[in-house]
Amino acid sequence: MLLAAAPLAAACVDNDEAPPPPASRPVAAAPAPAPAPPDGSAAAHAFYAANRFSRRPSVPAMTDLGRRLFTDTSLSVSGQMSCATCHDPRTGYGPPNGRSTQLGGPNLDSVGLRAAPGLRYLQTVPPFALHHFDEATDESVDQGPTGGYAWDGRADSTHDQARAPLTSKFEMANPDVDSVVARLARGPMAARFRAVFGNDVFATPERGATALLQSLEVFQQSPKDFYPYSSRYDAYLRRQGTLSPSEMHGLALFNDPKKGNCVSCHPSGIRHGAFPNFTDFGFNAIGVPRNRTLPADDDPAFHDLGLCGPLRTDLAKHKELCGLFRVPTLRNAALRRAFFHNGVLHSLEDVLAFYVARDSDPGRWYGKRGNKVDRYDDLPAQYRKNIDRNPPFGGKAGSPPALDQHEIADVVAFLKTLTDADLEKAK
Ligand code: HEC
Ligand code: HEC
Repeated sequence: MLLAAAPLAAACVDNDEAPPPPASRPVAAAPAPAPAPPDGSAAAHAFYAANRFSRRPSVPAMTDLGRRLFTDTSLSVSGQMSCATCHDPRTGYGPPNGRSTQLGGPNLDSVGLRAAPGLRYLQTVPPFALHHFDEATDESVDQGPTGGYAWDGRADSTHDQARAPLTSKFEMANPDVDSVVARLARGPMAARFRAVFGNDVFATPERGATALLQSLEVFQQSPKDFYPYSSRYDAYLRRQGTLSPSEMHGLALFNDPKKGNCVSCHPSGIRHGAFPNFTDFGFNAIGVPRNRTLPADDDPAFHDLGLCGPLRTDLAKHKELCGLFRVPTLRNAALRRAFFHNGVLHSLEDVLAFYVARDSDPGRWYGKRGNKVDRYDDLPAQYRKNIDRNPPFGGKAGSPPALDQHEIADVVAFLKTLTDADLEKAK
């Protein structure tokens, strides 16, 4: 895991290797190099390098434009949907309601496959890698697949990730990014684009697309909006605030390897001076139940297998990766009303109960095949060996769960201390 946010200043260094622009394209006397993308992914870098602007866009100006674009419904074919429709600023850019997945598409009636993740605390997601070695712990240990955006890590940057909703038929439903740019060029935002990127920002569709995606990306790197570290738990870590006895007990259970053991996948402590994001951006199969309310799940042959497909296509042959999804942050999770990649559970109490009683009371979570409980019912039998069985999981049918009702209540109380101060006020 990366320890510090990618500094934006470093992202704006000149790029010597940028190819000269084609002669046919009008170029200003001293073309400003496009900033390299914050994550440094090669594809995004080349994309930016090929699309220079006549004005060097400043970070504050792009942040401001990106913030406006984020709530701009003209980005969608329906004219009714913006990024904020699914990523509500008031919930830490998570879903605005308790639906498992949000509605989208040209008529706002398509039901997607996955819950909208919150977008805060993603600033240190490393690019996806199958093998991750962490120099901060033990660089000889392979931590397995890590990083990338989306529940299956298939996008390498927020820049790549923003293309997906713009053109997904479940979401903003545009035929391509160029058509969004054409609409923006005719609309009320055009003047702002020119002010930020120069008068020729819409001279080519690529340049317009770069300006759009870059503004959204830079906005999502804004510390105030996306990683304020202002929760009560942060105050506690800074020794500027205290937690109640119940919250402290919840924290202890969260960290206890024999009880919650949550910390093994959702790190909670300061490491090398960096505040915890409650995810290591790794991937695990935890056997989340099938969500029978999703239309896709009407087809018994359909399974969302995360890393091994079908939304992600490059790892289809890796059977050992079927059922693995990226560990989400738990910051601001208390503001969500749909949990896990398919939004199947709707309260933190249920999530906790699932963790501790998945194996001891499977009938509570899973459907039936014939008259037998179909344990791990969203994963075909041949992949069930991928499922994590360490605490808080495990325990024979009927055995006591790793956490009792009171302990669950305390862990939930602790999780509620992870809500950022501005969102606490907005509730
Ligand atoms: C219709 C709902 C919807 C809309 C509109 C939408 N998103 Fe999303 N967003 C999602 C879902 C669902 C996912 C998870 C996708 C997956 O895992 O396959 C997601 C994932 C993301 C992620 C990756 C988060 C992570 O944890 O890795 C980012 C970043 C993101 N969206 C940004 C945006 C931006 C920017 C826009 C506007 C251009 C937008 N989204 C519009 C539903 C939406
Ligand atoms: C083996 C690693 C692992 C352990 C241990 C673990 N988690 Fe998770 N957690 C995950 C993964 C992976 C997901 C996403 C799974 C999915 O959607 O398929 C997740 C999802 C969640 C979510 C849903 C968040 C959201 O945005 O939908 C919550 C809440 C959560 N975990 C809390 C906890 C708590 C509390 C504990 C301890 C009792 C815990 N986790 C232990 C890996 C783990």
